[in-house]
Parts: sequence; C-alpha cells; structure tokens
Amino acid sequence: MRAFGVQRSPRTILFGAGQRAALAHLVRPHGQRAMICTDSRFGADPLLSGMAASLRDAGLTVGVYDGTLAELPMSCIDEAAQAARDIRPDVIVAVGGGSCIDLGKLVAVRLTYDGPLSDLYGEFRVPDGVLPVIAVPTTSGTGSEVTPVAVLDDPGLGVKIGISSPNLIPHAAVCDPELTLSCPPGLTANTGADAMTHAIEAFTTLRRDPTPDLGVANVFVGSNVISHMQAATAIRCLAGHLERAVRDGSDPVAREQVMLGALLAGQAFGTAGTAAAHAIQYPVGACTHTPHGLGVALLLPYVMEFNRPDCVGIFADIARLFGLPDAPDDLLSRQAIDAVDGLFGRIGIPKSLAALGVREADLGTIAEQSLTARRLVKNNPRPLDLDGVRRIIAAAFEGNRDLLRS
Ligand SMILES: NC(=O)c1ccc[n+]([C@@H]2O[C@H](COP(=O)([O-])OP(=O)(O)OC[C@H]3O[C@@H](n4cnc5c(N)ncnc54)[C@H](O)[C@@H]3O)[C@@H](O)[C@H]2O)c1
Ligand SMILES: [Fe+2]
Repeated sequence: MRAFGVQRSPRTILFGAGQRAALAHLVRPHGQRAMICTDSRFGADPLLSGMAASLRDAGLTVGVYDGTLAELPMSCIDEAAQAARDIRPDVIVAVGGGSCIDLGKLVAVRLTYDGPLSDLYGEFRVPDGVLPVIAVPTTSGTGSEVTPVAVLDDPGLGVKIGISSPNLIPHAAVCDPELTLSCPPGLTANTGADAMTHAIEAFTTLRRDPTPDLGVANVFVGSNVISHMQAATAIRCLAGHLERAVRDGSDPVAREQVMLGALLAGQAFGTAGTAAAHAIQYPVGACTHTPHGLGVALLLPYVMEFNRPDCVGIFADIARLFGLPDAPDDLLSRQAIDAVDGLFGRIGIPKSLAALGVREADLGTIAEQSLTARRLVKNNPRPLDLDGVRRIIAAAFEGNRDLLRS
C-alpha cells in the first residue's frame, strides 16, 4: 500500500520544564478576557494562581471556573457554560487533567453554539468558529491537549460519549512536566497507562486504503506514516520511563519522558484513532465508576492477545521498542504482550475485570455496549464482532489470557 499520512495539530505546542511561564504570550493575542477552566485541586494550588497572575500582569481580565469534576458529567459542563456567560471570555485556558481540558473544549463550543451538545456526538458535527482553547495538561495521559476529542458523561445514555471534530483541537498546548510532579503514584500509573494504550492502539490500528476522501471525510483514519512515527516514539518514551515516574515522582527526567510520550501518543491517536480496549472501557467504566486509564490498561493485554494472530509483525516491532533482544517475530510478538502486561502489573494496574468490580451478570451488557462505539470497533486490527468481544471480556473477567490463545 502507498504511504499516506495526516497531521492535525495545535498551531503551537510548547514542551519543557518551566514553559508555563510563556502562557501569557500565547493567550494575549486572542483578546482581553480569559477564562481558566480547572478543578478544585488546582483552584487552590499556587501554581494556578501563578499562571493566573501572569495573565493579569499581561493586562488580561481573568475569570476562573474551578468546579470541574473527574470524568466530566454533563451537569458540570452546564454549570461552567453558565459561568462563562458572566465571564464573557475571548479565550479559554484549560489547566488540569483530561477532564479539565475536555471541559474547556466544550465550554468553548457552548459559547458559540446554542443547540444541545447531544447533537454533536459523533464525528465532524462541531460547527466552525469555536473559541480558541489553550490547553495546559497537569497529567501525562489523555493527550487531550492535542486531540480532536472531548469525552463527557451524559446521564441519559448511561455510558460516556465522545465528540470528535478537528474544530476541538486546542489552538495551543503548553506541556510543562513540572506540573505533573504532584501526581501521586496511582494517578501517574493510570494516566501513563492510558497514554501507553493510546500509543499501542494507534500503532496497531488498521491501515486503510488511501482514497482521496480518507483524510478529509474521517476524523480517525487508521494507522498512517505520521501517526506511526509518533506512536513508536511514544511507546519508547513510556516503556523506558513510566515505571520510573511511578516509583519516584520527583524524577524530572522520568516526568519529562512520560509527558512527551503522552503528548506524542495523543497526536498519534488523534488521527489514527484507538480501538477495542477503548471501546470496551466505556461500558466497564460506566458499571464500575473506575478511572478511564485504569480500565483501558487492564483491557489492553487481553485485546492484544485477541489481536496477535493478525498483528505478529507489528507486535514484534512493539517488543523492539520496549528494548527486548532480537528474536523471531512470532516469539517477539508474544513477548510484546508479556512486556506490556508486566509493566502494567508492576505499576499496580489490576489484572482482572472481577478485581475492578465487574460482576459476571454485567458481562453480556458490557459486550453489547462495547460494539456501539463503532468508530473504535472498526479500527481494530482484527475484525471484531460480538463473539470476539465476549471472548476478550470473558478472559479479562477471569484474568486469564490463555483463554484467548486457542
Ligand atoms: N479528549 C481526549 O482525547 C481524551 C482521551 C482520553 C481520555 N479522556 C478523558 O479524560 C478524562 C480523564 O483525564 P485524566 O486521566 O487526565 O484525569 P482527570 O482530569 O479526570 O483527573 C483525575 C484526578 O487527578 C487530579 N490531578 C490532575 N492533575 C494533578 C496533579 N498534577 N497533581 C495531583 N492531582 C492531579 C485531578 O484533580 C482529579 O482529581 C476522562 O474523562 C477521559 O474519558 C479524554
Ligand atoms: Fe484513553
């Protein structure tokens, strides 16, 4: 197949320790009034007041909304949009984990679009003219600072839902690893494992026939030459440094490399898309109320085991990116799954859906709801039907990858 690539990105990405000091330069050209979207933890953090002060020093009027709730319930978006009507911002500055950045994106939409958000679920439905968003991540995980995605919890649906549109990509991202120094080990593990799952799912998604409409009629186009490089580097950064960052959160090199990995993984899956581990996590998260990163990471080794027969060469490449010694592809492809499973085990990701609180009686519903995330399911490198999802979920429930090896 001929080479094909897509890159969609913020106009500016600043990466590096201390880069938050450049925030005002990026915000100032957009107008006089800025709204910071964050959560109560950062609302009380001197790092946030320092950033707000730098904006005020640059002559901006700054309003702060610090009510973001993790996993982003619709009620929180409504409340923030109401606050935004009083603040009347020209630009949104989203500071926090994926929940705060996704909130910032959706507040920016709400300020220029009057209809219900539910009309925007799916792909390419966000109208042009969204207010500019400057994203400042404080976790190394979701990649939301560069992705065309916002994920929210709509109580009417019972599962989380994504809005995907290039119009949601932040105008700029400021990725300062010092902002992640305060992440406790569990959060570092869950968010870093989410990033690794983005990287591996983007690296292994189906490569599609490069028709002229592939890059313009689809938000997610499958693996491509640009996402491939980004995902490969992300896997290498995270394989080499995630465990180190979990063990010693004050290690500046580990924090830097994990944040770089999360950023590149976000760029990779922002065009390539993710696949089965993300599709299955949505209903698992809804029935267990567990964090997104924890669920996708738990599922990934099972999804890889299911996919392996169709992915021997690419999984062997993953093993090489993990630094494993060379061996025949078939062996390396198995070792890649063991390496991912081993890393996740060492950083405390549970091994089974049962350990996450899933009950056997929930498995049927989880399987059916997983298939409703069509864009993720169709991206899976091995064709995925109800029977396949059921097998993955049954093995993950038992915590036994052998069940997928027959
Ligand atoms: N938009 C996307 O592309 C995308 C991709 C994947 C996931 N998501 C969504 O992102 C959300 C998850 O985001 P997340 O994993 O970054 O977590 P989060 O934003 O939900 O935050 C989790 C907790 O971590 C705390 N926290 C954040 N930064 C911290 C720091 N530096 N020090 C100490 N505590 C800190 C927060 O206060 C919060 O209590 C979910 O809603 C998920 O569905 C979005
Ligand atoms: Fe994710």
